[in-house]
Amino acid sequence: MKLSVIGCGYLGAVHAAAMAELGHDVVGIDVDQAKIDALSAGEAPFFEPGLPEILVSATATGRLRFSTSMEDAKGSQVHFIAVGTPQKKGSYAADLTYVNGAVRDLIPFLNPGDLVVGKSTVPVGTAEALASMISESGADAMLAWNPEFLREGFAVKDTISPDRLVYGLPPEEQAASAAKALLDGVYSSALNAGTPLIATDYATAELVKVSANAFLATKISFINAMAEIAEVTGADVTQLADAIGLDVRIGRRFLGAGVGFGGGCLPKDIRAFTARAEELGRGESVAFLKEVDAINLRRRQRVVDLTVESLGGSVNLKKVAVLGLAFKPYSDDIRDSPALDVAVQLRGLGATVVATDPHAIANARKLHPQLDYVDTLEEALTDADAVVLVTEWEEFRHLDAEWAGRLVRNRIMVDGRNSLDSAAFRAAGWTYRGLGRP
Ligand code: UGA
Repeated sequence: MKLSVIGCGYLGAVHAAAMAELGHDVVGIDVDQAKIDALSAGEAPFFEPGLPEILVSATATGRLRFSTSMEDAKGSQVHFIAVGTPQKKGSYAADLTYVNGAVRDLIPFLNPGDLVVGKSTVPVGTAEALASMISESGADAMLAWNPEFLREGFAVKDTISPDRLVYGLPPEEQAASAAKALLDGVYSSALNAGTPLIATDYATAELVKVSANAFLATKISFINAMAEIAEVTGADVTQLADAIGLDVRIGRRFLGAGVGFGGGCLPKDIRAFTARAEELGRGESVAFLKEVDAINLRRRQRVVDLTVESLGGSVNLKKVAVLGLAFKPYSDDIRDSPALDVAVQLRGLGATVVATDPHAIANARKLHPQLDYVDTLEEALTDADAVVLVTEWEEFRHLDAEWAGRLVRNRIMVDGRNSLDSAAFRAAGWTYRGLGRP
């Protein structure tokens, strides 16, 4: 099928390449010339495992092109909207400028029977408004909402083999079945592999996405709240998580207590959900999400406080090695990264922060040039007065307590992800501080 993907960020670039890899003829469109140049040359403009390989192979087939001109969307049957919906400045609400702009700019190039498919995370009600925008323009095209559940770091796999497909279809029966048939064509390979499909209305599809992220955020903040209780009782939250996680109704995943969640999705999505619920007069239904957000932000502060405490009350002029900058491993994304937040706060308290990360240094440096960045773990650890682990990359998880101990000035470890073997560190003479652990 001929597809266009409008917006080539973390979501759109992967979607475009994966759809071409599956055999579709795809054009990816973005206003950012540098991004389009990189993608056209078969280079991923950000770190995402597996993306460079499919960009190269799909480009070689001639089925994948990139352009800065919306006119190139003309001729595609299905147009995916994959632009960002960041948090509005000075508000909790989502900024819909890019989504509205993408649809508005696409309208002149739509052919009768085309399907516009929203993939961006939006406040409930957006799809209905966009469908009206399309019909009022006179374009004879349909709109569907098809939320995306991919995780950064696993985006290629999650796009090619999703765990579920959700279609928010138009209210009119004929349009709904035409839209569904087109989407079934797009996703034929996943559907043939037995991927569960939920075909529903616009509002449900929009809400599935935000409620899934709200649930995940709540699960993380729940275990982080238990970490706060563990800290005043001497309990160990990691063992608590293992024990409650064995109940299949609860499950162990997303019960990793630590510095908390960040990234371009969970934090802004729970805030936008709160703002939208308030607009709908149902603020109380998701008021708990404010608490989820507050718990999450407190954990960043806790890591900073533990570092200060471990250094005897002040980090001023102390060298602190910060291991990790990305919001999670296997990504170079630093949007709302707890790791970077901790680094910046420690710097603000007078510490000489020497930070390292396998992939996120370039992005971090652009935003926070005041920090010192080094490429290797060895350089970061050398003569450090304290070490703070905030992104659990494999190379940090497997840090050897003896080897690291020989490099640092003080054997002080603040494990903001509870990802080290605390016994091994203590045995090697380190003062080990985890989150929610004795
Ligand atoms: C999240 C969702 O998991 C995806 O399903 C969704 O499609 C995506 O948002 C989106 O809306 O686009 P992502 O932001 O890539 O995906 O990252 P997650 O793997 O969900 O991690 C989010 C944050 O939670 C990270 O900072 C991670 O370190 C933290 N986390 C995760 C914890 O602190 N503890 C855990 O146990 C798990």
